Amino acid sequence: MAEKKEDNLMEKIVSLCKRRGFVFPSSEIYGGFAAVYDYGNYGTELSKNIKNEWWKAMVQLREDIVGLDSSIVMSPRIWEASGHVSGFSDPLAECKNCHARLRVDHLLEEAGVFADEKMSEEEINELFKANFDKIKCPSCGKHDFTEAHKFNLLVKSNLGNFASDWDKDPVYLRGETCQGIYVNYKNVLNSTRVKIPFGIAQIGKAFRNEITARQFIFRTREFEQMEMQYFVNPENEMTEYEKLRQTRWDYYIALGIKEENLKWHKHENLVFYAKEAYDIEYNFPFGFKELEGIHARGEHDLGSHSKCSGKKMDYTDPETNETYTPHVIESSVGVGRTMLAVLTDAYTEEEVEGETRVVLKFPPKLAPIKVAIFPLLKNKPDLVEKAKGIYDKLKQDYMCEFDDSGNIGKRYRRQDEIGTPYCMTVDFESLEDEAVTVRDRDTMAQERINIAELDKYLEAKLK
Ligand code: GAP
Repeated sequence: MAEKKEDNLMEKIVSLCKRRGFVFPSSEIYGGFAAVYDYGNYGTELSKNIKNEWWKAMVQLREDIVGLDSSIVMSPRIWEASGHVSGFSDPLAECKNCHARLRVDHLLEEAGVFADEKMSEEEINELFKANFDKIKCPSCGKHDFTEAHKFNLLVKSNLGNFASDWDKDPVYLRGETCQGIYVNYKNVLNSTRVKIPFGIAQIGKAFRNEITARQFIFRTREFEQMEMQYFVNPENEMTEYEKLRQTRWDYYIALGIKEENLKWHKHENLVFYAKEAYDIEYNFPFGFKELEGIHARGEHDLGSHSKCSGKKMDYTDPETNETYTPHVIESSVGVGRTMLAVLTDAYTEEEVEGETRVVLKFPPKLAPIKVAIFPLLKNKPDLVEKAKGIYDKLKQDYMCEFDDSGNIGKRYRRQDEIGTPYCMTVDFESLEDEAVTVRDRDTMAQERINIAELDKYLEAKLK
């Protein structure tokens, strides 16, 4: 099992993300806003590339999966039917000394005690009390806590409700994107040519009042999910589920994630409707944790929406005439969580001529900037003009950066830190031989390439 390279890797990633403009804490000038983050220039590009790769694998390359973009705020009846209003909660306790709010199942887990999601408040409190002496508050180190109570994670809003007592019948910001998929199942079926088995994929924001959120973009209160719900004949649910598990594992390998940093985790204690649940875990700087959930959800979702809405959610097979309510298997992963996995995988420190080189070795398809173009000197108009000409041409096809500030070494270091695979320098020789020096991020090897050949060169390297 791969161990993480350094103890303070997380701090290094957080600091690089801020310094280079990947991720900023939200509302910083007002003292911050916990567990919410903003993405800067390179973070936006990285997140866009991650979403594009997911969409390509899940929709573009699949004849059996179509896309959807449903609304964030929907009828609150949806969240009653799904079980979120009554049961989407985590056990919360407060430290009596420093008043930190803490997730009791996480405290127990750190003490080596497993707390099942399905446990009642009473059961979790029994377990909590039995292990009090093993548990310390992560903020102040004391162990004096209030009793645990279940805290609902749904975030309320008054959208469309103008009454002063709006919170008696609130609407909710969606807690997961897939509910928008279930309630549109019939619309999709009636408006496209899909036949069972088929999937609906969606990328979008979700919101959860997470109790503790101390792991940067791993767990945030506002986040983006990439979810695909696959509708199958109940008889084939487990065969299709195994296929989906394999597809999702292969996807991460093709994305460029190191296989030794991935592993399966099988859920032993399933929610009542689930047939099987596995997580793909990634070796984050704080250890192996859930990256993606892959669940066999049976008839639960379409069945309960059908019961609560009174609308039929069944399917008649056009060939066999068999009618049934499809079962659902899902793949669900966060964009921010993928981004943290990709950053962790890419972060590298190397000794170069007595100095530490920090380089993000992103797979080229995920790199925010593909090519940086430099004129050797800023004050030589001929060099600047030639470099600008190359930049103007290449930016039509790739995210490029033009940089003429500081010495070349410093420009390379900056591009290494944002993970740019190729840097090109226009020097005095370029004016004679119509070629540039191309430097490879990972090997630091340099080669001379004709300007007229750059398109072909990059196509071979990047596409
Ligand atoms: N529809 C199923 C579902 O939402 P989940 O295990 O609660 O299942 C699925 O979430 C994925 O969404 C997780 O594996 C994770 O990648 C991401 N995710 C969930 N909560 C998150 C949070 N608070 N912050 C960031 N990502 C989150």
